[in-house]
Amino acid sequence: MTKLLLRALAGEALPTPPIWMMRQAGRYLPEYRATRAQAGDFLSLCYNPQLAAEVTLQPIRRFGFDAAILFADILLVPQALGADLWFVTGEGPRLSTIEDAQGVAALKPAADIHETLSPIYETIRILARELPEETTLIGFAGAPWTVATYMIAGRGTPDQGPAHAFKTANRKAFTALIDHITEATIRYLSAQIDAGAEVVKLFDSWAGSLTGDDFDDFALSPTRRIIATLKERYPHVPVIAFPRQAGPRYIGFAQATGADCVALDNSISAEWAARNVQVSGCVQGNLDPRHMVTGGDDLVAEAQRITRELRGGPHIFNLGHGITPDADPDNVARMIDAVRTA
Ligand code: CP3
Repeated sequence: MTKLLLRALAGEALPTPPIWMMRQAGRYLPEYRATRAQAGDFLSLCYNPQLAAEVTLQPIRRFGFDAAILFADILLVPQALGADLWFVTGEGPRLSTIEDAQGVAALKPAADIHETLSPIYETIRILARELPEETTLIGFAGAPWTVATYMIAGRGTPDQGPAHAFKTANRKAFTALIDHITEATIRYLSAQIDAGAEVVKLFDSWAGSLTGDDFDDFALSPTRRIIATLKERYPHVPVIAFPRQAGPRYIGFAQATGADCVALDNSISAEWAARNVQVSGCVQGNLDPRHMVTGGDDLVAEAQRITRELRGGPHIFNLGHGITPDADPDNVARMIDAVRTA
């Protein structure tokens, strides 16, 4: 029996798509909040393999999703490269900033990341043993551009202004930073696959702020390089790319990068994606996460409309971005039921 998620990633159009949700382990679940309180803070939870595996399993037990995503964060890679990292409750991540070429040169070698990240591989080994046999385990990393935006600004930014300014002021140092993160990401994802990840996903949450050649140089090329190296080593491991808000640049992104699937945000319509993106391979998405807060008939109608629009080709049902802390867990069950009865 091949797992449903792997069948979709291999290009099969299924009558009912596999389902999982970005941020499915998170604060909207009371059992997550309890385990997080036990761990202390968010980073302590990420680096505690037993508890990180526990929160990864919680949404699988509650909802029976077809995939589990490793519980960790894209900002652990900067931390492993030497950045200070902390989370301010109610605000988000903070990092020490990179200001110039010296800041890039001072990063730890990519080969050293495992010293920090080895607990993450242990979480994966636990999950590989404990997940139900029909559930696919997804590993992940941030794509280099998105990770660089946080390393330069030291926080999330509405327009990625500091990263764009760095790129303009010193394209050579900026390129060196992207290359360094790319190298670290290849090593990180390889170690995740060695530990038992069956699929990997690259989150390029801020890809939409890159235009023209910059999109090619800093979203497309690093992603292509990561995927090409992984495919040489692990030809059987599918890769999902998420160039969020890429708009028309979603067209051809899978072929250009070698990704097996592209994850769609909720700014594009499923109908457009079916015509322009799914024609060349598997797509994932793209329900607006706000429906998980508002629920009702709109949630059911939207989930069923997306399922039907994308039924003609390979599709993994998901949200267009992460579920938010104010979501109602009952709406998740409603969504799954809607997709399976569409
Ligand atoms: O999806 C999952 O359930 C797996 C785990 C996961 C987390 N973050 C856990 C998390 C994954 C895949 C991520 C990816 C991530 N992290 C991204 C890319 C996807 C996206 O959302 O665009 C980004 C940009 C980050 C960086 C990050 N981590 C931010 C900006 C924040 C703060 C915002 C927030 O929701 O609080 C985080 C914190 C974070 N990462 C939480 C979780 C469950 C909340 C932390 C908590 O428990 O307080």
